[in-house]
Amino acid sequence: MVEEGGRLIAVECDCRELRTINTKLEFARIDQEFCEATISDYRIKGYYKKESAIENAMICKKSASEYVRRFDEMKKRKKGLYFHSKRAGSGKTLLVSAIGNELIRRYKAQVRFATAGELLDAIRATYSKDSELKTHQLIEAAKKVEVLIIDDLGQQTVKADTNDHLFDIFNYRIKSDVVTIFSSNCKVENLPYDYRIKSRIQRMAVPIQAPEESVRQTLAERENEEILDSLLTG
Ligand SMILES: Nc1ncnc2c1ncn2[C@@H]1O[C@H](COP(=O)(O)OP(=O)(O)OP(=O)(O)O)[C@@H](O)[C@H]1O
Ligand SMILES: [Mg+2]
Repeated sequence: MVEEGGRLIAVECDCRELRTINTKLEFARIDQEFCEATISDYRIKGYYKKESAIENAMICKKSASEYVRRFDEMKKRKKGLYFHSKRAGSGKTLLVSAIGNELIRRYKAQVRFATAGELLDAIRATYSKDSELKTHQLIEAAKKVEVLIIDDLGQQTVKADTNDHLFDIFNYRIKSDVVTIFSSNCKVENLPYDYRIKSRIQRMAVPIQAPEESVRQTLAERENEEILDSLLTG
């Protein structure tokens, strides 16, 4: 209860609000593959070959670890990060998951992680009259969660409601002491959304070029060679 104009009014306490947000965004968790990942798992030597990719990976790794170290300041400045590379398998999901894990471990931050598709689909699932969760309740949680990690932004087909929901969420987050971390396969200016959304993302997050080289492919080739070798020799 707080006093306002001589009257006692009830306010939701922080921890209750935190719990409500967590429950509503229960689906939005870091993938099992990356739930233990840390920034030191983001390797460079032997994983990227092109010089430009090595340089970009070094910038990604350094900015990720400095971001975690200076999280309080970044939160006050309402700034997140936007990692982008056209190339699939270049380590974007690993990197944003590792940042999320470290923010949880070091600051007990409230972190929720979803692909843009999962988030929009979860919102659409609330349209059903059988849904326990109301659309505005889920959107409210996405607006207020301390750290929202949106993976694969811009990869989904834009539907009639996409711009409205993203605008609603980002327009709130841009003004609050919360941060949003993105990964995408395109630059902000090339996202398939309205300008008013793209300009907000530009304001909310620092764009960082991720390597244009597929570690997934390199690892697969290495593994397949090893297996073929062992099949032929062993
Ligand atoms: N720098 C790295 N160090 C160690 N492993 C890496 C690195 N980059 C990628 N990987 C591994 O390669 C695989 C693909 O990485 P990840 O899923 O993060 O790529 P992505 O850029 O998100 O790809 P996509 O665009 O397909 O979503 C994962 O198994 C990941 O662990
Ligand atoms: Mg990914």
